[in-house]
Amino acid sequence: MTGSTRAFRLFDGAGLQPSSPEWPDRGIAPLELCWPADDDWPQRLRDQGVLLIHDVPPDRDNRSLRCLGARLGQPSLRAIERRLDEGAGVQRVQALGTMVRDRSGKPLLSAGHGAFALHTDESFVEHPADFVLLHCWQPAASGGTTRMADSRAIRASVDRVEWIAWTQLRLPYPCGERCSVECAGAVRFNPAECAASLSSMQRDRMARFAETVRRLSIEVPLAAGDVLLLDNRRMLHGRSAFPADSGRLLKRLRLVAARSHRDWRECGFTEAQADDR
Ligand SMILES: [Fe+2]
Repeated sequence: MTGSTRAFRLFDGAGLQPSSPEWPDRGIAPLELCWPADDDWPQRLRDQGVLLIHDVPPDRDNRSLRCLGARLGQPSLRAIERRLDEGAGVQRVQALGTMVRDRSGKPLLSAGHGAFALHTDESFVEHPADFVLLHCWQPAASGGTTRMADSRAIRASVDRVEWIAWTQLRLPYPCGERCSVECAGAVRFNPAECAASLSSMQRDRMARFAETVRRLSIEVPLAAGDVLLLDNRRMLHGRSAFPADSGRLLKRLRLVAARSHRDWRECGFTEAQADDR
């Protein structure tokens, strides 16, 4: 069922614009659907890179969110923070009272209330999740607005030389040096995950890439019940800062798309886990 069109705000404060596929330099705004969505929604997500489904029930066991995820792949259980774990790959995204560090000792931005620059998820592993689902349970009264950018819009908005530069921008992630835009078009970008020992050239080009995607981003205000579904190999997402006591709460589920047995092992799953998939 197609829902009503909501207005999305351009990042640079150019004012509210109607949700439209006609922004040549910013890609597309999310296609909006209502729960339960028509059966072809996974194909729409693969085609468009992003969907917004309204009125998804906030089940205590996250059943509706997990049902959506089951249409896309297997939950990624990597890097789940114990204090925010709701089981089956679902993790709360909320500001905790104390600073939480990830496995590498860096502040876990998803457990804070600061701004989170545009990024893709799981950039720190060889095979990042294919999809990211964000279920809004409670938005912040002010701030905490989700942003997204379509990496395909980069190619459409920059000249050939700059595009080639982006495809050749390799950054040091915990899993090794990786391209920001692979030849096939898949994007991997999270400055917060890159090693501190960046060269000045890498630092400059990383900052320029971040500015390019920021310029191409739109705000996607999430209301309670909304699930934003993102192709994590195409779309970047982030958020603005919000008050620590706002009660903002999202539930996040990352999915790894169906792969061959060998691919599962390459994704870091053990032989036994691969057998189960
Ligand atoms: Fe994220």
